[in-house]
Formats: sequence, C-alpha cells, structure tokens
Amino acid sequence: MSSILETKIAIVTGAARGIGLAIAEAYAEQGATVVLADIDAVAGEAAAAGIERGEFVACDVTDEAQVEALVAGTVERHGGLDVMVGNAGIATVSPIVSMSYEDWRRVLAVDLDGVFLCTKHAAGAMAASGGGSIVNIASIKAFGGAPATGSYGAAKAGVVSLTKTVAMEMRDHGVRANAICPGWVETDMVNDRKAELEAVLGLSFDDYIGHVQGGRLGTPAEIATLAVFLASDRSRFSSGSTYNVDMGATASLV
Ligand SMILES: NC(=O)c1ccc[n+]([C@@H]2O[C@H](COP(=O)([O-])OP(=O)(O)OC[C@H]3O[C@@H](n4cnc5c(N)ncnc54)[C@H](O)[C@@H]3O)[C@@H](O)[C@H]2O)c1
Repeated sequence: MSSILETKIAIVTGAARGIGLAIAEAYAEQGATVVLADIDAVAGEAAAAGIERGEFVACDVTDEAQVEALVAGTVERHGGLDVMVGNAGIATVSPIVSMSYEDWRRVLAVDLDGVFLCTKHAAGAMAASGGGSIVNIASIKAFGGAPATGSYGAAKAGVVSLTKTVAMEMRDHGVRANAICPGWVETDMVNDRKAELEAVLGLSFDDYIGHVQGGRLGTPAEIATLAVFLASDRSRFSSGSTYNVDMGATASLV
C-alpha cells in the first residue's frame, strides 16, 4: 500500500500515545494530514512534532464545545474532514459489586460519550462535504464479560452499537463508519494496570495472555494497519462492521 491516504484530512483522538499515536503515524506515512487531539497537551505536542503534516489540538472528548471546535477548526484550516478516529479512552479495574458509581460514569463519559460526540460532529461535517470515514476504536470486550472491566466493556458495546447506527443513518450521505475491536495491545493502558489485573485474575498476566491470545500482546502498529485500510477508499464497500484484531481471542471456546 503506498500513499493511499494522500489528500485525506484526518482527526485522531487520544493520539498522544499508544494506539492513537500509531494510527496518526501510519496515516501520515500514507500521505494524510493528521490532527492529533488529546487531553494531554505536553505529550500531544511532542507527538505531533514528530509527524509530517501532523498538528496538535488540545481536546477533552467529553466536552461537546471542545469537540465541536476541534471539528470546525479542522475544516476551516484544511478545507474539510475525511476521517475521524474515535480512539481516546480510559480503563479502570474494578469488579461490578465494588465499583463506585463515579468510576462507572467516568469510563462511560470518555469511552462512550466521547465517541458519540466525535462521531456526531464528524458525521455532520463529512456529510456537508460529500462523505468520509469514521473509525471508532472499541474492544473485544464489547462482545463478552471480562472480570473487573465491566464499565469498559459496557462502553465498548455501546461504541459498537452507535457505530452501526450512524453507518445506517449516514449511508446516503457518503459517510461510512466501522469499529475496530482490538484484543490486548501493549500500551500504557495495559502496562499501568498489569498488577491490578493479576490481583483480580489470580494468575500472572503472562499466563493469562498465553491462554487467551497466543502468548503475546498486539502492537499499536498492528491495529493501525487496519485503521489505514478503513480510512482509505479501498474499504469503500465497508460500513457498519466490526473488525476483531485479537490473535484468535474471540474465536476460542476454551
Ligand atoms: N491497549 C489495549 O489493550 C486496548 C485494547 C482494546 C481497545 N483499546 C482501546 O484503544 C484506545 C486507545 O487505547 P491505548 O491502549 O492506546 O490507551 P493509552 O492510555 O495508551 O492512550 C489513551 C490516550 O487517550 C487520551 N485521553 C484520555 N482521556 C481523554 C479525553 N477525555 N479526551 C481526549 N483524550 C483523552 C490519553 O491522554 C491518552 O493519550 C482506547 O479507546 C482503548 O479503550 C485498547
């Protein structure tokens, strides 16, 4: 694949690190202009500085005025919006029975409300200029229970549902929407929570990954490569779909 995103204008939320940063880098490598949006301005500015045709915009995806300004500013500076990646997310480790309501609401606010706001404003802007592609980052936890990540799984199931709905609603306006559902990927989100997860799971994280996912974490780049395809015109017949990238984790019954 060479330069398949030439002339595309893309926003990637949560792009200061991890999967979002890998997607921003992969988009730029394929010729796109990339707006990296994140709540972490220090890491976001540094990330954008290393990306050709990359720029940073501070944005908290839970704040509708900030999301609206992110989309409107991108359209104003670059003449349109072709791709929105709803990637910003947080996770907590807590069983349902001991989870505080505040904790539940915080995860839903970023992981589901944030994706709703970005999808809403991007879809409107894309429709106004002839179409585009929305790529939301959900998780395989949308499809089943996983211990101690109930708020996260519920939010991701919501992301899958809203992505399918907007795909249907916007089909006649040239706007496609798909969700990527990664398995376990090596980022700060996972590394920072390994000890908590081991305590809840009662086994080592390595043993757990060996069982569910063939023994290794995915890399952010392995998620980004699918995000490139879904942003590009090569996926023009794909909309309303979910794509698992999990080394068979969701295929296994054992
Ligand atoms: N790492 C995994 O195993 C994994 C698996 C499945 C899905 N995902 C999803 O992929 C996405 C990226 O995860 P990651 O592992 O790269 O996480 P990460 O923690 O490494 O990066 C997340 C980024 O989102 C930003 N962010 C958090 N709250 C924000 C807000 N309110 N507004 C704007 N930006 C905000 C953070 O500052 C950070 O830069 C998330 O949606 C996550 O749920 C991750």
